[in-house]
Amino acid sequence: MILAVIGLQYGDEGKGKIVDYFCNLFDIDYVVRFNGGPNAGHHVNTGDGEYTLHQVPTGIVSGKKSIIAEGCIVDLETLIKELEPFKISRDNLFVSKDAHLILPHHKVLDLDMELRRKAETNIKAHLGIKRRPIGSTGRGISPCYVDKSNRIGVSLGDLVNNKKVCIDRFKEKFYENLCLTEWGGGNIITWYGLSNLSDVVENFRALGEQIKDYVCDTSELLANVIGKKKSVLFEGAQGTMLDINKGTYPYVTSSQCTINGIPSSIGLPFTKIKLDCVIGVLKAYTTRVGEGPLPGEIGGELADKLREKGYEYGRTTQRPRRLAWFDAVMTKRAVELNSVTALALTKLDVLSETEYLNVIVDYRDKEGNKISPNASRLDEYSVNYECSNGWKEDISQLEEYDKLPEMCKKYIEKIEKYLGVKAKLISVGAERNQTISLYPYLVG
Ligand code: IMP
Repeated sequence: MILAVIGLQYGDEGKGKIVDYFCNLFDIDYVVRFNGGPNAGHHVNTGDGEYTLHQVPTGIVSGKKSIIAEGCIVDLETLIKELEPFKISRDNLFVSKDAHLILPHHKVLDLDMELRRKAETNIKAHLGIKRRPIGSTGRGISPCYVDKSNRIGVSLGDLVNNKKVCIDRFKEKFYENLCLTEWGGGNIITWYGLSNLSDVVENFRALGEQIKDYVCDTSELLANVIGKKKSVLFEGAQGTMLDINKGTYPYVTSSQCTINGIPSSIGLPFTKIKLDCVIGVLKAYTTRVGEGPLPGEIGGELADKLREKGYEYGRTTQRPRRLAWFDAVMTKRAVELNSVTALALTKLDVLSETEYLNVIVDYRDKEGNKISPNASRLDEYSVNYECSNGWKEDISQLEEYDKLPEMCKKYIEKIEKYLGVKAKLISVGAERNQTISLYPYLVG
């Protein structure tokens, strides 16, 4: 079986928990991260322990073979630290030689760009240009992908080759990158300080030594694994609305977060990856961390209450997440873009004791006409809601769908009706066992 677990909103839908649940439910052989880098924060609570994973596939928690594919970017220092609690070997961890490296200056450039986006300059005021800070996680994601596209990136295979550390090639590529990177009107070398460069290279050599055994051609490995009919789970990072092509551009991340990203990011033709099912993960309400439009945004006491109850703080940056009502229109778009076959609805327990629940059911333009929204212009529209009563009962210990309060079931059915897909998993708490499984078979 080949399945994908994809976020249908703005990230933080609870993909980590769902991937972990499947790893324990099915005989999954390999779990693959195919996009992004340490901007992700996938949280797992097994009941015995809690883990937050940024780069390593969530499958590592349950001992599955874990692949970091070539479409990912890697921060070696944080990756090595993240691996510490796990028993890793050449047999269960595979990191692509073609994954690009986040270099120390990528983080500096990321933060610097964000500061410049916020700055009110004379030119901005004069030309009436809008401020567009993105609210980046500051992990160097965009500058790293920019360098890759600009053909001055440095890959893991430049540092480590055939299980050896080949520091000369790394040094050559790193210095070329430094020479071509501008910072503060000069060269990025001024940030490092010329005399420190050999220390930086030495630090990478040491990191390369620690990771070299796990670096390989993951594209070849996956071709083999899929050819042998092993079961593979593709673990999406971020969410559809943050996808570089289909999200709320420019308020997006720099990689493809939809299933369309899988073939190019793992280096195999789409004809070879026959997805048996695509699990769309969605929260029972909407959250967003960082800037950008958020239709149906909730403020005041209700937002504070939901934020505390659902612990809505970024796992990577600890920033408070913004909250909004469930958006049936954009989530339906995400269902279609990902050919979702089943839903995993998360954090339903957080909505208990909410007096009424709004759901966005249509978007209107300035003239009041119903429209199909353009994702990159969401801030130009108004929205209409369908409202229903909430429920009071605590549902976090329930194990059966039938025991859910009537209004809660009605809310689930409303979401299913709008999206045209059934919820097969309902999460009512952070722990692995706080999950209601609705159908015995996921496929079909
Ligand atoms: P970047 O990917 O760090 O450049 O951030 C771009 C935007 O995506 C910012 O608004 C981030 O807050 C958001 N973002 C990136 N990764 C995640 C994630 O894993 N969950 C939620 N938001 C994210």
